[in-house]
Amino acid sequence: MASNLQNKSPLTREFPLEFLQSITNNFSEDRIIGEGGFAVVYKGVLDNGEEIALKKLTHTGTEDTKFADEFNNIVRARHQNIVQYVGYCYHPGRWIEHNQQYVFGHEPTRILCFEYLHGGDLGRHLSEEQPCGLDWQTCYKIIRGVCAGLKYLHSVDIYHLDLKPANILLDNNMMPKIGDFGISRVLPSSKTITTKPGTLIGTMGFMPPEYIDKQEISSKYDMFSLGAILIQIMAGRKNYCDCGSVPSENFIDLVCEIWRKKVHPAMWSHTWKEVKACIRIALRCLEYDRHKRPTIREVVDELNRIDIEDIVDELDRIDIDISSVRDEAINLQSRVALAYNHYKNSGKYLH
Ligand SMILES: Nc1ncnc2c1ncn2[C@@H]1O[C@H](COP(=O)(O)OP(=O)(O)OP(=O)(O)O)[C@@H](O)[C@H]1O
Ligand SMILES: [Mg+2]
Repeated sequence: MASNLQNKSPLTREFPLEFLQSITNNFSEDRIIGEGGFAVVYKGVLDNGEEIALKKLTHTGTEDTKFADEFNNIVRARHQNIVQYVGYCYHPGRWIEHNQQYVFGHEPTRILCFEYLHGGDLGRHLSEEQPCGLDWQTCYKIIRGVCAGLKYLHSVDIYHLDLKPANILLDNNMMPKIGDFGISRVLPSSKTITTKPGTLIGTMGFMPPEYIDKQEISSKYDMFSLGAILIQIMAGRKNYCDCGSVPSENFIDLVCEIWRKKVHPAMWSHTWKEVKACIRIALRCLEYDRHKRPTIREVVDELNRIDIEDIVDELDRIDIDISSVRDEAINLQSRVALAYNHYKNSGKYLH
């Protein structure tokens, strides 16, 4: 049954509730892989061996807005750094006996299914006092991947609005994928909207000040959250809370020093450029005035430039190596010629 569903387009891939019950041992506790404010996430295995994550929304009632919002946005988003949607289940309720009569209980079950990511979420690798426990190359790969995913989202006018370590999932190769589109919105680019006062939805520490103060939402909302994630990766949660009270140049030095101690000395000459650029970008993303924050396109361009500079440096180094080998060869050639002449002139040369 499941393998037939596999071949259908994402929109039509509807899983029957009974099937999802059967692959999760009736949504048993030992299959839970995560929990958030609005859902419990279970692991299941399809008939063809494919592992999936089932996000069962926990809010009750007949209101389907949240399910519909997440569904609509995740179906539209397809990118290597976005969690891949696999299918859905919508079960409207069931007949129940009430006063010797059967009545239909409208208690919908709403489930979204995604590819299962073995590395769990980024939050598990972060700590209070320390920077991310992973090595710099992996951290940089995660930062680059998150930026690439966000650039894609903004290019299709999706604002995520809940970017945080718990919503960044990692695959076997530590490739990051942005997940949890529960409160994402589709807005025409460069548009700013104001939501109803008194209804803050999101996560403290990742919400920008203009949202907390004036409920304003724009593309710069996600940029603020990105800055918070970057600082937590590079300096730990505590330093994120303190970074506003330290002059930025001092904070940049502090973070560079943390990573200089963690990185092999032979790697530091090029790693420091990446560390410095990421921490500078993070601080700009956290600017109070949202107009001073960069766009995600600018951030990605800036990181690309570092990669290009690194390649140019490497090519220069290879060039220097080649020219020194060439000099060495010319030198050797003339020494051989001299030795040969000397030998010949000394009369000992034999035909
Ligand atoms: N595809 C997946 N693969 C592996 N683990 C996952 C996957 N999706 C979610 N999880 C785990 O479950 C946790 C909760 O998932 P998610 O963020 O989607 O739900 P949520 O926070 O309840 O959603 P919402 O914020 O909309 O309420 C994640 O932080 C992660 O640890
Ligand atoms: Mg979440």
